[in-house]
Amino acid sequence: MRIKDLSPSAALLAIILAAPELSSAFYLPGVAPTSYPPGGKVPLNVNRLTPVGSQQDGQLRSIVSFDYYHPAFHFCRPEPKPQYVSESLGSILFGDRIMTSPFELSMGVNETCKQLCEKKFDQSSAHFVNRRIAQQFSLNWLVDGLPAGQLIEDEVTKTKFYSGGFALGSNDDKAMHLNNHYDILIDYHELSPEQRRVVGVIVQPSSRVNQMADTSGRCGDGGPPLTLSEASETPVTWTYSVYWRPSTTAWATRWDKYLHVFDPKIHWFSLINSAIIVVFLTITVVSILLRTLKKDIARYNRLDNINLDDLSGTSAAIEDGVQEDSGWKLVHGDVFRTPSHPLLLSVFLGNGAQLFVMTGFTIAFALLGFLSPSNRGSLGTIAILLYTVLGFIGGYTSARVYKSFGGDRWKMNIALTPIMVPGIVFATFFILNLFLWAKQSSGAVPFTTMLVIVGIWFLISVPLSFAGSWVGFRQPPITPPVRTNQIPRQIPPSSTYMRPIPSMLLVGILPFGAIFVELYFIMSSIWFSKVYYMFGFLFLCYGLMIITCAAVTVLMVYFLLCSENYHWHWRAFMTAGASAGYVFANALIYWVSKLQLGGLSGSVLYIGYSALISFLFFILTGSIGFFASWGFVQKIYGSIKID
Ligand SMILES: *[C@@H]1O[C@H](CO)[C@@H](O)[C@H](O)[C@H]1NC(C)=O
Repeated sequence: MRIKDLSPSAALLAIILAAPELSSAFYLPGVAPTSYPPGGKVPLNVNRLTPVGSQQDGQLRSIVSFDYYHPAFHFCRPEPKPQYVSESLGSILFGDRIMTSPFELSMGVNETCKQLCEKKFDQSSAHFVNRRIAQQFSLNWLVDGLPAGQLIEDEVTKTKFYSGGFALGSNDDKAMHLNNHYDILIDYHELSPEQRRVVGVIVQPSSRVNQMADTSGRCGDGGPPLTLSEASETPVTWTYSVYWRPSTTAWATRWDKYLHVFDPKIHWFSLINSAIIVVFLTITVVSILLRTLKKDIARYNRLDNINLDDLSGTSAAIEDGVQEDSGWKLVHGDVFRTPSHPLLLSVFLGNGAQLFVMTGFTIAFALLGFLSPSNRGSLGTIAILLYTVLGFIGGYTSARVYKSFGGDRWKMNIALTPIMVPGIVFATFFILNLFLWAKQSSGAVPFTTMLVIVGIWFLISVPLSFAGSWVGFRQPPITPPVRTNQIPRQIPPSSTYMRPIPSMLLVGILPFGAIFVELYFIMSSIWFSKVYYMFGFLFLCYGLMIITCAAVTVLMVYFLLCSENYHWHWRAFMTAGASAGYVFANALIYWVSKLQLGGLSGSVLYIGYSALISFLFFILTGSIGFFASWGFVQKIYGSIKID
């Protein structure tokens, strides 16, 4: 299965881009190709060093990344000093730190054994670097925006593809070897003699003690590898060679080799599998529910008619009394009773609506091909901007819901909606960042970026949310179809599976099942820094998750009301949100099976980020479940006659 089968929009984009005359007006920002004349300078920028999973056991040994110019690495610096390359907000947040480098690449000009600089490694740097080699760190370079990778063969499909980075060093049984020589192989596509484009970059790093070019100009090949001594100083010479190779790959398809799907058949298979199960279950649930409901409603309304028409018919009245003793109609005077903590619930629901719309739009943008992989971090940037702008929806929903609950602390509602959930997220993020600062990791978000985020939040998101709340409070409340009794009904004891915890466990697993397959790929793209681009899958999964979440929560609420328990508000929110518990548990399993994070901070970071994501997921799914149930309850009580 080719990449193109997977994302039609990318294929479409590729077709558009492949016709230069037609398409010159259509390039999306940041995706326009750069052409270089022969001998023209091609930029090589360096990004942070990231840990990758080991080749042998697929385990990840660290999740902390480091700046390329971290002093302990002793990489050569450009003169006068390295500069930051401008990046998008999302790119910075997701950890990119792109800087200029001293490598000089001229289009089409081969270089052999070019010496960059000489450095001395002291003991502590040697120790630091050896540990990073043991943790399988890899270097991430960008040549003309394209990552410099290594050629890897997929054992299952026997296809070759490029990894996103290349190894800092290697280790055999005896020692760690630092790679101090790079063979840079660049593929270029010749459009015309004066226009060449970079379409592929491979780096073959190697470790060599003897760096003097021999007579063949081959840079000490075959010599012993370099080991950094942790007992004394080690001199290291950094060298590189550049080889330009003409290629037939068109610029528009240059990313294909990077976006490799490990065994797409399994991916498709498991996705379709879970989709069928989910759809089948949902349809069954909904059809049974609909039939039962129809019967219920018909019965209730028939009984009502008998009641009114046949005043003297005692037999009918008795039958009526017997019949009415069961079912969800009994709680009609209580279902719309204000839930406990209406303020908290409405704030959650406002934020949930905001997240819901944001996620939908982000995936849709990605699906339409607006977020190309060469636009680094565009996904994160779009998500943040959308979340900010959608503050209006959050405020509106929260206010409208709160008003419908009959809440009177409207000032608190307006203030808490844009502050509470983002505040929790930001505070957690900030604390986790402190850990990264302490580790001198480049993953730490710079202070200025933090300020920018807080600025955007307070200057755009909060006012928009206030505006939304204002509009929401001016709208009429959503009125329940039945009157609420003065005195609350007694709730009979419920059966085991209707108790809060069992029902949460039962209901939560289905929405989780819908996204389970995709979650695995998302996690490996987050932690193994792989490019994620399967937005078609993601879109499908998001849809499935929404449907399942709504359907099972509605079913649970129906059972709850049948058991004469009318506290459905929080129950619907919590049971649907329980799928976040599964997401978190899944992250923990992933942690045990795929990661070997030595040290406390790595584990704290991993758990912290997983908890953060699960929390947002909790609010998202909880809100989906709540609104579906609310609609359902409004509908069923609106369709029976209450005297
Ligand atoms: C540069 O090196 C590559 C790979 O060895 C070779 O195919 C190409 O012809 C060389 N180019 C020049 C201009 O020598």
